[in-house]
Amino acid sequence: IKFGSQGFRRLGFDFILTVFLNLLSSGDYCKVNLCHNGATCVTGVGDDPFICICADGFGGDTCNLTETGPCSPNPCKNDGSCKIIAPTRRGDVFNEYICKCQPGFEGAHCQTNVNDCANQPCNNGGICRDLDGDYTCQCPSPYVGKQCQLRCISLLGMEGGAIVESQISASSVHYGVLGLQRWGPELARLNNQGIVNAWTSAAHDRNPWIEIDMQKKMRLTGIITQGASRMGTAEYIKAFKVASSFDGNAYMTYRVEGQRRDKVFMGNTDNDSTKTNLFDPPIVAQYIRIIPVVCRRACTLRMELVGCELNGCSEPLGMKSRLVSDSQLSASSSYRTWGIDTFTWHPQFARLDKQGKTNAWSPAHNNRSEWIQVDLEKTKRLTGIITQGAKDFGVVQFVSVFKVAYSNDGESWSLVKEESSGDDKLFQGNIDNNSHKKNLFEPPFYARYVRVVPWEWHERITLRMELLGCDD
Ligand SMILES: *[C@@H]1O[C@H](CO)[C@@H](O)[C@H](O)[C@H]1NC(C)=O
Ligand SMILES: *[C@@H]1O[C@H](CO)[C@@H](O)[C@H](O)[C@H]1NC(C)=O
Ligand SMILES: *[C@@H]1O[C@H](CO)[C@@H](O)[C@H](O)[C@H]1NC(C)=O
Ligand SMILES: *[C@@H]1O[C@H](CO)[C@@H](O)[C@H](O)[C@H]1NC(C)=O
Repeated sequence: IKFGSQGFRRLGFDFILTVFLNLLSSGDYCKVNLCHNGATCVTGVGDDPFICICADGFGGDTCNLTETGPCSPNPCKNDGSCKIIAPTRRGDVFNEYICKCQPGFEGAHCQTNVNDCANQPCNNGGICRDLDGDYTCQCPSPYVGKQCQLRCISLLGMEGGAIVESQISASSVHYGVLGLQRWGPELARLNNQGIVNAWTSAAHDRNPWIEIDMQKKMRLTGIITQGASRMGTAEYIKAFKVASSFDGNAYMTYRVEGQRRDKVFMGNTDNDSTKTNLFDPPIVAQYIRIIPVVCRRACTLRMELVGCELNGCSEPLGMKSRLVSDSQLSASSSYRTWGIDTFTWHPQFARLDKQGKTNAWSPAHNNRSEWIQVDLEKTKRLTGIITQGAKDFGVVQFVSVFKVAYSNDGESWSLVKEESSGDDKLFQGNIDNNSHKKNLFEPPFYARYVRVVPWEWHERITLRMELLGCDD
């Protein structure tokens, strides 16, 4: 039996050697190799006179102990589970174990990331992107949902009245006929009838706008606009911009993804017909502002908003699947085991279920000033977090209590608070090196940047994590 399971294991050993050829910093190779079974001996790091980096399949301080079975350490990649079996033949290789793969992975060692887009999970023209064990659909407006299966096309209530007067405001109001006619913002309802039946901004208003407060975050996929006639003459908005806000203070003007200039929407061409514009991608916001750019005679508007409620929102946001890329992760600092660069516990490693010898984030110091940050690149709704510890060369390490902070600009931060007391919320974290601990954010919050601030820990601050939420 020449090529038993050990045959497979040699691959791992070559990899470790390659890693060690990259040793840069304080460590050096031993003059005399004191380690067994092909291990690499390194001296001049930490307190020990030397350390042994064992070839796969061996353990102990000098690598003189053999592994406890073909499944320990686990030869299966990507969270595949290992099962010991009676020796069987697979091709010309004898096996002592089989790997049961997680969905999205295949191969003898679950080493192959299946193309999760292969059976075209995205509906309605959504564009599929393959991730590690998952996929994401980029949906064309007005479709939403994991598989672009939902149509987000409800009329939100300008015409129907679900949006009440107090929710509508404007930069100014035009008073006609000696001040007796008030063309107020509350009249800006699609198909509104009467002699005074729309909003018109004041003639002197150089920066007019009209705003709807939807009272909670909604997803908007379109806007229908309409002009009106005043004293027998058509008035309408020929072109406009759209801005949105979560809080009524900071506004973002709508841009098409990848464009540096504000999007200018084509509006109306007469007093009565309606014009529909889609937001692609949709806007998620509580406040929406229509900003006239070019008006015919006066900026006069009747309108309706198209969109839907936000709902079911607890998808993994992509730490594990790598939808969140390495450049989106940062931290206060990173720890290096024995001062060796190769063993740096980068924030980019803080991915749930990450495997390997250094497979989590760990900061340089263990105190309450340290943090790890995720930049989600756009504002998302955050509903929860999953945390996990790890082992550093056999030592179990984890974060047992943590705080969560969030920000929309990466500069001013809010800590998640207890609803009842208003104190900073202390989230209960992990109790071991591997299990997942899930915490929900109640209520959810909206943010582009999220930070985890470790508060209490076991051995060293060590963290793998996933954020839960959705795009809305
Ligand atoms: C491994 O080496 C240690 C000393 O480095 C020794 O005490 C132990 O007995 C050895 N074990 C085996 C199984 O050879
Ligand atoms: C307004 O629109 C209606 C219907 O399209 C049209 O009959 C009317 O002539 C228009 N009025 C003005 C002032 O343009
Ligand atoms: C954490 O440790 C760093 C480095 O020793 C130090 O600069 C910082 O002030 C410490 N913070 C706290 C809260 O102790
Ligand atoms: C670490 O986690 C693994 C997987 O859950 C478990 O089998 C192992 O016993 C843990 N190690 C320690 C030292 O607790």
